[in-house]
Amino acid sequence: MSWDALSARGYISIGDLFTTMACRGIAVLAVLLWATTSTSSSSPQRPNIVFIVADDLGWNDVGFRNPDILSPNIDKLAREGVILNSSYVQPVCSPSRNAFMTGVYPFKVGLQHIVIWQWQNVCSPLNHTFLPQVLKGLGYATHIVGKWHLGFCNWDCTPTFRGFDSFFGYYNSREDYYSHKLSGYLDFRDDQKAAWQYEGQYSANLYSQKIVSVIEKHDKSRPLFLYLPFQSVHSPTQAPERYVNLYKNVNNEGRRVFSGMVSALDEAIGNVTAALKQTGLYDNTLFLLTTDNGAEIFSHGNNWPLRGGKHSIWEGGTRGTAFLHGAGLKKTGYTYNGMIHAVDWMPTLISAAGGTPVKGIDGIDQWQAVSTGGPSKRSEFIYNLDDYVIPLQGQAGIRMGDYKLLLGYPGTQDGWHRPMNNTKDDIYEKHLYDPQGKETHLFNLKDDPLEKHDLAEAMPEMVAKLRERLLEYKRHMVPANYPDHPDPKGDPKRYNNTWTPGWC
Ligand SMILES: *[C@@H]1O[C@H](CO)[C@@H](O)[C@H](O)[C@H]1NC(C)=O
Ligand SMILES: *[C@@H]1O[C@H](CO)[C@@H](O)[C@H](O)[C@H]1NC(C)=O
Ligand SMILES: *[C@@H]1O[C@H](CO)[C@@H](O)[C@H](O)[C@H]1NC(C)=O
Ligand SMILES: *[C@@H]1O[C@H](CO)[C@@H](O)[C@H](O)[C@H]1NC(C)=O
Ligand SMILES: *[C@@H]1O[C@H](CO)[C@@H](O)[C@H](O)[C@H]1NC(C)=O
Repeated sequence: MSWDALSARGYISIGDLFTTMACRGIAVLAVLLWATTSTSSSSPQRPNIVFIVADDLGWNDVGFRNPDILSPNIDKLAREGVILNSSYVQPVCSPSRNAFMTGVYPFKVGLQHIVIWQWQNVCSPLNHTFLPQVLKGLGYATHIVGKWHLGFCNWDCTPTFRGFDSFFGYYNSREDYYSHKLSGYLDFRDDQKAAWQYEGQYSANLYSQKIVSVIEKHDKSRPLFLYLPFQSVHSPTQAPERYVNLYKNVNNEGRRVFSGMVSALDEAIGNVTAALKQTGLYDNTLFLLTTDNGAEIFSHGNNWPLRGGKHSIWEGGTRGTAFLHGAGLKKTGYTYNGMIHAVDWMPTLISAAGGTPVKGIDGIDQWQAVSTGGPSKRSEFIYNLDDYVIPLQGQAGIRMGDYKLLLGYPGTQDGWHRPMNNTKDDIYEKHLYDPQGKETHLFNLKDDPLEKHDLAEAMPEMVAKLRERLLEYKRHMVPANYPDHPDPKGDPKRYNNTWTPGWC
């Protein structure tokens, strides 16, 4: 089915197009007004920045694309703001988060292979500057509530040593939403202290309460940076009845609970915006919401109509749900089609804050582009570069203009999946990648955003051109830092049954 046919079915709002046209005139006027007022008045305070990462949230898991999902708060922010239609992330968690914090591609720092596991003595290299460190330098109060997943084996790897004033959340990839345990051991901290007292509280509720209290205690003479990497909606698929009951019409139990998880996240975001309004901070707040990768199909997330899912460098794994809203945006209420990559957010947010982006990184400052609706400054990016020999010959992908070249193994989750709302059983069409001896794929994403027509054989010169560029990037690749064996020094039994720093 073509993208146009989907839009006719309501998956993509035609209204977006009209809003875009109507906004152009208003945007010009707004720029003029802004230009005249900003020179005459005293310099206003830097914008507050709320950077929300929704874990494993799929392309089709938000109400503004899929009317079966109830996410009114997210939809309102997205529709009033700028919906990002070509915003790319890494195929899994730690690499994307590293890109968000440092503006550097994961393949340059050894984080290109899967994620950092709780038993590995690995963390995001300590000699890179993190986004909150720069914002702190600009006078911001900086807080993180939620999931870290950038390593914890040394205290220096953990949030309060990497630019955050406070940390409330967990270090690793996943855990139970109520017990806050991973493999039976606590992974939950209030700053550096193991926090046992929240057992039984669902994380979306717990986090939103914490965020609201951070907002209420914030000293308003300083700008505020909130990094909110929610646990929602990563597996395990768990949600309180109250949210699940919103979806009585969804027959598939997994999809029903998953949809409830999105609604819980949405309510949490509604509570955060309400607290910002109550404290008078909202009007000067810039929101960025992005997923860290595409939905995990087996956990009932959905990327329809895109191909594949989490763990893969198909579009379904890497073209992420994302939007901007609020302070500093001069053109709003439309869909931005310019190319953005996860590494761009660090310099872009620094620029939005009025600072000077760090030099020598991969990220491009896109603030001018996304705040005015101008052309993207990016025309190419790397999907991933991973030589690790499981299971085939590595995984590599590059985008140049409209073309995308994939070499090696694109990743496990393949195929096109509609949301499974009407089947009781979990039945997927073709879902696992079957290489069939094919190691090279080429797509024209402008004509074929769903990756249905492989052009590799028809366009050998284009393949050669992209491969050559990919190999130039590859010269800067470092081997994946991916120890195969657990480091016994990190065993939680040695630390009162908690996942604890201090062993590398
Ligand atoms: C960080 O350290 C690594 C390994 O020593 C080095 O190759 C890299 O250039 C350093 N990067 C920065 C940004 O300092
Ligand atoms: C949002 O706030 C309301 C009112 O305080 C509360 O009942 C609800 O549990 C909160 N939702 C979340 C997800 O925390
Ligand atoms: C479920 O999916 C079908 C077909 O994909 C769609 O028509 C329907 O509106 C969806 N929603 C519910 C709640 O059944
Ligand atoms: C979003 O991108 C797709 C192609 O990838 C395009 O068909 C669609 O028109 C875009 N949406 C908007 C509103 O521009
Ligand atoms: C050790 O763990 C228990 C729970 O098993 C907890 O109640 C206690 O507070 C912990 N001790 C310390 C020092 O954190």
